Amino acid sequence: MKNGLGNKSDNVAKPESAKGRLGVMVVGLGAVATTMIAGVEAVRRGLAKPIGSLTQMGTIRLGKRTDNKSPLVKDFVPLANLNDIVFTGWDIFEDNVYESAAHAKVLDKETLDQLRPYLETIKPLPAVFDQYYVKRLHGTHVKKGKNKKDLADQVRADIQAFRKTVDRVVMIWCGSTEIFLEPTTVHASIAAFEKGLESNDPGIAPSQIYAYAALSEGVPFANGAPNLTVDVPAMIELSKKNGAPICGKDFKTGQTFMKTVLAPAFKARLLGVSGWYSTNILGNRDGEVLDDPESFKTKEESKLGSLEYIFQPELYPDLYKDIFHKVRINYYPPRGDNKEGWDNIDIFGWLGYPMQIKVDFLCRDSILAAPIALDLVLFLDLAQRTASLKNIGIQEWLSFYLKSPQTREGLYPEHDLFIQSMKLKNTLRHIMGADLITHLGLEYYD
Ligand SMILES: NC(=O)c1ccc[n+]([C@@H]2O[C@H](COP(=O)([O-])OP(=O)(O)OC[C@H]3O[C@@H](n4cnc5c(N)ncnc54)[C@H](O)[C@@H]3O)[C@@H](O)[C@H]2O)c1
Repeated sequence: MKNGLGNKSDNVAKPESAKGRLGVMVVGLGAVATTMIAGVEAVRRGLAKPIGSLTQMGTIRLGKRTDNKSPLVKDFVPLANLNDIVFTGWDIFEDNVYESAAHAKVLDKETLDQLRPYLETIKPLPAVFDQYYVKRLHGTHVKKGKNKKDLADQVRADIQAFRKTVDRVVMIWCGSTEIFLEPTTVHASIAAFEKGLESNDPGIAPSQIYAYAALSEGVPFANGAPNLTVDVPAMIELSKKNGAPICGKDFKTGQTFMKTVLAPAFKARLLGVSGWYSTNILGNRDGEVLDDPESFKTKEESKLGSLEYIFQPELYPDLYKDIFHKVRINYYPPRGDNKEGWDNIDIFGWLGYPMQIKVDFLCRDSILAAPIALDLVLFLDLAQRTASLKNIGIQEWLSFYLKSPQTREGLYPEHDLFIQSMKLKNTLRHIMGADLITHLGLEYYD
């Protein structure tokens, strides 16, 4: 590896081609989902650029720095073309994608009106919903079934019907944040889970009914919310068994994105941190759902995780063992989707002298989330067409996009955005039989 390039994976089978139509089934056609769908259509028509999307605008360096070879990611790996994507989805409200996008008020009226005829064609299928799991919503467009197994079968029937119209299918959860659930015995194996579906076990949330249906049909599943969903042994088993890739949860968009950029910088410079106070104001439907303490708890767990792993207080007790880390989300309707996230960070340096950093991120939640949702869909489809990724279940290389990366049991997750980015790009190099890049760099000075 002296040349700064890691081992080449000579005999790795490359991904199959992406020809044909990719069906994308979106659970929850709210702010994020409609911003993704409308955005893809705007890009297809040449009305806008896919900013924020690594699959569409990112490049990947191949070989030595002196080789000057950095193709676009989408020219290097065989990804589905945006023109080949067909969207459908479920929601608990009957609004079509145009109506829902207009309600979400993320995109301006002029943009939406240009896309209106197309967006109106996407009408939600009736959802699997139970208010016990999302207290602030009252769904009217919902499936009825004699038990959770029956509901899962109905979702499977939806997938089978849609599959007849496309060549491949991926499912993504862009639905609301459910109440906090922890794994129980019902999640321990496929058999236990299937029994629980029959007996209406309360440990099985609607998001898990969709995920079970997807994975049973061999459909990869991504989770944009912090819900437990596929983060349980039963789903990992199902994912591997049916060659339907899964990844972690909760789109890493605003505040956590900044955290996983700043915290690695402090650690790299051995600067201590005594406190990190994060608060948000948010006025969209997501904010309303998160105003319920039980849904907030799910989000809180997901948002709190990253610092502990990045700082490794067990290795650096003098710097990070006593961090006071707090995360708040406040529902504040006037701001709509334009969230404001504040961070106050108390750090300390040489000889323990204290300093402060303030971050005020006036972001647009769904504008940040939409390209992440698109990339996850395209990369999960790629994973399923790649022999070395298809049957491994968890796609750790997609951690880059998620607040709560998923890993094999016993393996700590990587939260550092730059490690995640390297992991993602090296995975792409690996599956294409290109040299991995280690950044050693000594070869330039031989
Ligand atoms: N926007 C971001 O930056 C961001 C970041 C990370 C995570 N998320 C998560 O992504 C999810 C979507 O966010 P959003 O801003 O689009 O919220 P939203 O409230 O606008 O959309 C969620 C949609 O899901 C629907 N829904 C709820 N339960 C459902 C079910 N069981 N089946 C089908 N549909 C269901 C709701 O009716 C709603 O239309 C939330 O869980 C949010 O926490 C968003």
